[in-house]
Amino acid sequence: MPKKLYIKTYGCQMNVYDSVRMADALAPLGYAQTEDPGDADFVILNTCHIREKASEKVYSELGRLRPLKEAAAAEGRQLLFGVAGCVAQAEGEEMLRRAPVVDLVFGPQTYHRLPEMVTRLLGGEGRGLVDTDFPLESKFDHLPEESAPQGSAAFLSVQEGCDKFCSFCVVPYTRGAEFSRPVGDIVAEAERLVAGGAREITLLGQNVNAYHGEASDSATWGLGRLLRRLAEIDGLARLRYTTSHPRDVDAELIAAHRDEPKIMPYLHLPVQSGSDRVLSAMNRKHSGDDYRRIVDALRDAQPDLALSSDFIVGFPGERDRDFAETLRLVTEVNYAQAYSFKYSPRPGTPAAGIEDQVPETVKNERLAALQQLLGEQQLAFNRAKVGQRTSVLFEKRGKRPGQLIGRSPWMQSVVAEAPERLIGHIMEVDIEAAQRNSLAGRVVTLDYALQSKADRTIPSRIDAA
Ligand code: 5AD
Ligand code: SF4
Repeated sequence: MPKKLYIKTYGCQMNVYDSVRMADALAPLGYAQTEDPGDADFVILNTCHIREKASEKVYSELGRLRPLKEAAAAEGRQLLFGVAGCVAQAEGEEMLRRAPVVDLVFGPQTYHRLPEMVTRLLGGEGRGLVDTDFPLESKFDHLPEESAPQGSAAFLSVQEGCDKFCSFCVVPYTRGAEFSRPVGDIVAEAERLVAGGAREITLLGQNVNAYHGEASDSATWGLGRLLRRLAEIDGLARLRYTTSHPRDVDAELIAAHRDEPKIMPYLHLPVQSGSDRVLSAMNRKHSGDDYRRIVDALRDAQPDLALSSDFIVGFPGERDRDFAETLRLVTEVNYAQAYSFKYSPRPGTPAAGIEDQVPETVKNERLAALQQLLGEQQLAFNRAKVGQRTSVLFEKRGKRPGQLIGRSPWMQSVVAEAPERLIGHIMEVDIEAAQRNSLAGRVVTLDYALQSKADRTIPSRIDAA
């Protein structure tokens, strides 16, 4: 009987990708994935530590899942519990002490060692394995090839870790130093994804545009060059990348946006604050005007570019006038969408030790004001698409029968009536209505996708879906 693996993923797309690769790593041991933890022989929580109460959430989820372990034991089955990701990295041994249900704690850099860890546990080494190393060997070199296609919109991790040390952020501690995968490995993985049906690939990295990977001629390539190379893959229609740091937007990347139509006109470029005083306290290494200049250069290269960002309100020492600068920057840049958060002190980060913390009530007011403005911009951006024809990559069924959901080039969710066999296809859609979080439209034509080489391999997979 195959063993069952249940993975619950929290947080960023990097974690989503990591979960897929953990499943790949465990497949040779006979683990098949299940959606039901009650059915599982191995439960992994792949955790996120970026913002509030991350560890508390994990501990309470472990509490909820504990009866499953007891039930399995009563049936004479051994159910393993693993905690992965950034909370595991941050908590380490503490996790085993606080949550006796946990057998295994492992950080984001060690999941290629999972098969060995599981074999040791099942071999009677008991509970209590902790692996939060930053090993010298790269997990990417020790993972099996992907076992299952990811679907029409796939993720591909190209870079990991961060050397920026923004003063509020745990990532440099939990994910470690910056590391870029070699160009050849990335191209090979992208080709496999496309052969498996991917029409769109999103390159992932905590600081993805700091990418500096080795190519076969032992030259170092930046992200712009990598994107151009990937754009050569036949059958691949769309490229995206996330998350970028303003400081690492270079001329090559800007030129790639200008020249390469497969790079989608959407960029998530976090600014965090519009106040130079706060940006400096955040150790962001850029000013508000630096950011404006970068945005101008990108928009000169690609006038159609839609922008997204992350914002933190209530960073220690943030005054009303600092927050007003944030609102001014948002008004000037005009975002297609954005994420905004209240500052939450992360243990071990420099900002957590600053005395001048902003009261919760002030944080709430600022967050509401910022979200109001961003919401208006997002709605206006979406409404401007009504009456236009745009391409949509359909990814899954919609809520209502007969509907599919896909994405526009600008990352908007688009709902349309369409047969299920169009999942995985790029269609032209006339946009008829807009809301804050989605568009609705009508499919007009089959696009070139249907004639392209890659597509001829897709239909059987689609029919099965
Ligand atoms: N408090 C609030 N938001 C944070 N982020 C990162 N660390 C914190 C923190 N301590 C936000 C940033 C980052 C996004 C992924 O999460 O805006 O860009
Ligand atoms: Fe965190 Fe700053 Fe690195 Fe982004 S750039 S991962 S916010 S330290």
